[in-house]
Amino acid sequence: MIETVIIILLSYLLGSIPFALLVGKFGYGIDIRQHGSGNLGGTNTFRILGKKAGFIVSAADVLKGTLAASLPVILNADLHPLVAGIPAVIGHCYPVFAKFKGGKAVATSGGVLLFAEPLLFLLVLLTFFLSLYISKYVSLSSIMAGVGSVILSLLLADNITTYILIGFTLFLLYRHRQNIVRIVKKTEPKVKWI
Ligand code: G3P
Repeated sequence: MIETVIIILLSYLLGSIPFALLVGKFGYGIDIRQHGSGNLGGTNTFRILGKKAGFIVSAADVLKGTLAASLPVILNADLHPLVAGIPAVIGHCYPVFAKFKGGKAVATSGGVLLFAEPLLFLLVLLTFFLSLYISKYVSLSSIMAGVGSVILSLLLADNITTYILIGFTLFLLYRHRQNIVRIVKKTEPKVKWI
């Protein structure tokens, strides 16, 4: 029981590390919350600070999810890795270290999935890039990746995994609600680099 509480706390604190804010402020002297979509995530970092910073932030956001999901193994606790990753995803979106205004759950959820279901993660990543290549919308591709993870889990994983991924995807949809409105209105920015 105590291990579960420790994992929940550590996972949330890990997820709360605002890499987009840290890289922007200390690497470039820019607070990316004041620019672009204002989102503390890899996409807005790419948009405002360029490819190098965007890649570093995206990778770090993935890795914190992966580390959070691996906590039950590290601490020898009986907890599903996807469940251990949930507080990290919440921390990424509502970070205690950045006034509870963070990202949109994509990279950190991906990192959690990477540890829990590596093959599923690879296929979801493929879904994301295929959608990005076709649509040029990162947000739409993030949504497609979430929906894809649920569909693919029906073929490749157990029921518990599917139920948890439905939860992740509903949360991802909620975090992208403004993007969805912009996509419908055709005012969502497209990427030019793919
Ligand atoms: O990873 C978040 C992405 O799906 C959308 O980000 O900055 O375009 O709202 P943004």
